[in-house]
Amino acid sequence: MLVLDGKICSQHIKHELSQKVESFKANGKRVPHLAAILVGNNGASETYVANKVKSCAEVGYQSTLIRYKDDISELELLQAIEELNLNTEIDGILVQLPLPNHISELKVIETISPKKDVDGFHPLNSGRLVQGHPTFAPATPYGMTMLMEYFNIETKGKNAVVIGRSNIVGRPMSILLSGNHTYGNCTVTICHSHTKNLEEICSQADILVTAMGKPGFIKSNMVKEGAIVIDVGITRVDDETAARGYRIKGDVDFDDVATKAGAISPVPGGVGLMTIAGLLKNTMKAYLNNN
Ligand code: GUN
Repeated sequence: MLVLDGKICSQHIKHELSQKVESFKANGKRVPHLAAILVGNNGASETYVANKVKSCAEVGYQSTLIRYKDDISELELLQAIEELNLNTEIDGILVQLPLPNHISELKVIETISPKKDVDGFHPLNSGRLVQGHPTFAPATPYGMTMLMEYFNIETKGKNAVVIGRSNIVGRPMSILLSGNHTYGNCTVTICHSHTKNLEEICSQADILVTAMGKPGFIKSNMVKEGAIVIDVGITRVDDETAARGYRIKGDVDFDDVATKAGAISPVPGGVGLMTIAGLLKNTMKAYLNNN
């Protein structure tokens, strides 16, 4: 059983990006610059954004973290984004989700310039993804395709099952897997909370991608012999023995599924690290488009 190690793969990608940054510097050019907006104090969002900022530094990008209290008005936030859109020193903009209920996530996403939308959430970029045109693919699915490419996972003609239909993970992943490219050409089934016979559908998957947020839900009886299992679940579960009082658990019961699967991406150490790699790649793409 192969472990799809996100650490090795993301380090490889980060190394490539940092070499590019070195060459920009050697040529007297500025480095890529990501602006991250964080509204409020959601614990998970704090961690994600801190990791994004730290990873920018690791590859030599500049980053600016802009924080707002959770009572910022929608208008103020939209105006702040418009300023970043006009700032020629900034290549990529991300607004960490979720946002407080009084702010429309769609309005926020639609206000980010599609040219700086390194999360790939703007409907124009989603539309380009659906139509198979160059775009920013959302970081998590993009990272998953890089993980599969790195480990030479053959996708052509395979049955892929994606559990989850969110705009951040499941939906774009289903589009990438069905597209006509090296990490695509799958026959894709997308499952969600109303899907009947989930177990039966999953057990026919050559490639199973799970983004449910139900820790340990996927057991060996739901997995085909030799299947490639990609776990996008990241749920905090209480654990008194852990320093922070919790640990991160994926959707897949790793030890059980490992008896049957051909490959599994672990949690932690799998897709989470690849999400950051996807974001860094998108930020480089935005920089190169603008320079
Ligand atoms: N919230 C959960 N995942 C993401 C992500 O990839 N980008 C942003 N901006 N917010 C998120």
